[in-house]
Order: sequence, then structure tokens, then C-alpha cells
Amino acid sequence: MPDAATMEKIVALCKRRGFIFASSEIYGGLGSTYDYGHYGVLLKTNVKNEWWRAMLQERDDIVALDSAILQHPRVWEASGHLAGFTDPMVDCRTCGQRFRADHLQDLQCPRKPSKHPGEGPNCDLTEARDFNLMFETTMGPVKDSGATVYLRPETAQGIFINFKNVLQFSRKKPPFGIAQVGKSFRNEITPGNFVFRTREFEQMEMEFFVPPAEAQHWYAYWKQARYDWYVDLGLRDGHLQLREHDPDELSHYSSGTADVEYLFPATGSAGSAGGARWSELEGIANRGNFDLTQHTEFSGEKLEYFDPQTNERYVPHVIEPAAGADRATLAFLVDAYDEDELGGEQRTVLKLHPRLAPVKAAVLPLVRKDGQPELAREIFTWLRGRMQAEYDEGGSIGKRYRRQDEIGTPYCVTVDHQTLEDRTVTVRERDTLSQQRVAIEGLGDVLAARLAQPWRSPKDAPPTS
Ligand code: GAP
Repeated sequence: MPDAATMEKIVALCKRRGFIFASSEIYGGLGSTYDYGHYGVLLKTNVKNEWWRAMLQERDDIVALDSAILQHPRVWEASGHLAGFTDPMVDCRTCGQRFRADHLQDLQCPRKPSKHPGEGPNCDLTEARDFNLMFETTMGPVKDSGATVYLRPETAQGIFINFKNVLQFSRKKPPFGIAQVGKSFRNEITPGNFVFRTREFEQMEMEFFVPPAEAQHWYAYWKQARYDWYVDLGLRDGHLQLREHDPDELSHYSSGTADVEYLFPATGSAGSAGGARWSELEGIANRGNFDLTQHTEFSGEKLEYFDPQTNERYVPHVIEPAAGADRATLAFLVDAYDEDELGGEQRTVLKLHPRLAPVKAAVLPLVRKDGQPELAREIFTWLRGRMQAEYDEGGSIGKRYRRQDEIGTPYCVTVDHQTLEDRTVTVRERDTLSQQRVAIEGLGDVLAARLAQPWRSPKDAPPTS
């Protein structure tokens, strides 16, 4: 069966239900920046929390960091971003649009008939030029060259420049990692495909510092671990792959890079030629000792490790899993989106992993009388202390179920006339639509147990005959 998810449907659902919408909308929007509404914030927060859980809670060799967005301009000289963080771009003298020269076959000229840039009868493209993707701003009241600073284009450099600090206070020794989640900024020439490529986005990056001889081992380890993270959170097997970069794709400092890729649906309207395509969700790179060596050279500060047991001094090598929080959120949304028929009506449902779902449980009185709303509110008040819950009494019960399905709420707790007699409620499951009667007193345990269970996307389940 073809996948119900298209990028247009995801964009429409995100707007309709307030997950994600264009930024500065009342002023006509601002090129490819997005705002997250209530359910979008909850969903992206859950994605980031799952990442933190995998990095910190489930192991003891990684510590957290939150470095500043604005850093000394020398950081970007040392990292190579100032000289080399560029994309080739061309301008069209006819339509005035700017395109990435290496993406022309994926893009469309805005003029009719629809063609790739450069292929229309009136297209007049300039030679390709390098365009630096860093946003520049000035620091302090004086706008001279010494005051130029950059919005960080990745969170990684904030980690490298703090290597020495962290080594001192964390009492760790290689192999150990430093993890960071935060905003990054890139002046992308052709952003698009909704929040897949934007100019302001959040990254989840971890730099794992290892003895040089162990670099290959840890590179293989992190490729598998990061792939498994997406699988455990329910992304379907056939839509996920690990792709090793060809030697000509590698950065000069990298001896190996692999991407976790997801089969994203593309959209014709956001600058791409349409059709599903494998695209990067996360990159895992073996960066060698490039970063620590560069910062040592530019700062004069020795960034190395002295092992008191072996009396050995060395510059650790770095394995870097670098993920995007917005891109991962989009992949989880796409993978979860489904449509089915229920009682003769079409249902749109987000079959999200329960741990990612913005709301875990909705409490719904069947009718707005006979003491049901009061008891339902009581249950909601108790439940919300334990998990993200919602109370809803507006509209028919079918409509309210549908509303919760659309935001991906895995469990609806319904209070009916029987509840007032025997203090039991029904728990309706989003995916199976099964309903089970549960004592109010045991409700918290039942939901907690279900939320803790391993989960597999029902979209992946073999069809039942
Ligand atoms: N420190 C390495 C680094 O930044 P990257 O592949 O450029 O590597 C890592 O970025 C991840 O950040 C990507 O896999 C993607 O998920 C996310 N990302 C990068 N640029 C993005 C953009 N313009 N919009 C949204 N996410 C982006």
C-alpha cells in the first residue's frame, strides 16, 4: 500500500494542529524560518529528551555542555569555517533567483514552463561563486572589523574549545564524550522541504574523544548506536538506512563518515522536483585529531590528554554523531502520519512512538452531565502530575477521539456512567482502537507500563488476512 504521508499533508497537519508554522506570518513570513506551537514544542522536546536519555542517562561516559552561540571569531578561523564553509551558488540574471550550483537538477526555475534552473528558454545563469553560509553580526556599539562575530553554524566547535575545561571538572578520561543541544544558523542558499533545511535549526551533537588506536572501533560503535536509536523510536526499517560516504565525499580531515538517512517525501512547491528521496538525518564522522590540533595552534592552549598510568601524552581522536532536532522531528512526523477509515469516516492519525507523543493521555467525559466532567477533571488533575495529559469535554466523543488521534495521543481515558458506579474507566488505544476497562486506582500503573513497553510502528506490521 502506498504511504499516506506526503510533505504537503504533513505541512497542512502541522499548521492545522499548531505543531509548526511559518515564522513572522503576519508580516508575510521570513525565508524558511519556522515557529513551533504547543504540540510541536512538546514533540521536539521529547525528541531532544530521548537523545539526552541515550547520551547521559543510559551511560556514564558522556557529560553535558551548553556553550554560547556567539564565540570568538578565531574559533571559526581555526575550524576552517571562515575560509571553507561555503556552497557554490549561481544567480539567474533573468528571474533574480539564487540557486545552489550543485543542486540544479533538484531545483525548479520559478518561471513557466517548469524546468530546472538554466534549462528554461530565458534562463541566464552567472558563473558559480562560493558563498559563505555563516551569518555575520557585530558585537558591541562600534561597527568595525574587530567587532564582527558569527552566529555559530554548528554546536560542535563550542565543545572542542571547552575540551580542557570539561576534562578538568568531569574527571573523565578518553574514551569519553561531551554532548550539546542547541541552535545553529546557516544562511542556506536554497532552504526548503519544510523544516528539513532551514536557516535557523537545532542540533544534537556529541564529540567522543578516544585514544587514537581506538578510533575505528568507536566509529563503528557510534554508527550502529545512532542507527539503532531511530529504530528504537519507531522509524520503519524500510525507510531508514546507513550510508557510508564515498572517499570523494569526505571532508579533508575525516577518514570516515556515514549518514543515517531517511526516505523523506519531497514537495514540488518548496524548491525540489518532487518524489521521495533518501536524505541525511544525522552524520557520524571520524574526525581524527583535526579539531583539537587546530584549536591548539590558533589559541596556543594545549588540548591534549596526559595519561598518568602510562605517562603517555596524546591528542585524542574524535568520533562525532551530529543530528538535527528539527530534521528528526520531521522524520518522526512523516513516519507516523497515517490515514484510515473509521465508521465510514476518514481518520488522520499520528502513530508516534508513545514516548515521543506530545500528549500521553487525554481524559474525556462521555457526556457533559451526571457528574462525569467533575470526576474526569479529578482524574486528569491526578494524571497530569505523572505525564503530559489533556482534558477535553468539547464536542462529540468521536470528534474528540479524532482530535487526539491527529496529535498522536496514544491513550484516551473515557469517563462514562459506569465510572460513577464502579470507579472504572475505559482506556482506548490509538493504534489498535482496542478499549479496556481499568480501575481508576490502577490507571497510572497501566499507562506507565504501556508507555514503557517496546514499540514498533503499526505501519510496519504485516497486513492481517
Ligand atoms: N558538526 C558537524 C555538522 O554540523 P552537518 O552534517 O552539517 O554536520 C549535522 O549537520 C546535522 O544537523 C544534519 O545531519 C542535519 O540533521 C542538521 N542540519 C544541518 N543543516 C541543517 C539545516 N540547514 N536545517 C536543518 N537541519 C540541519
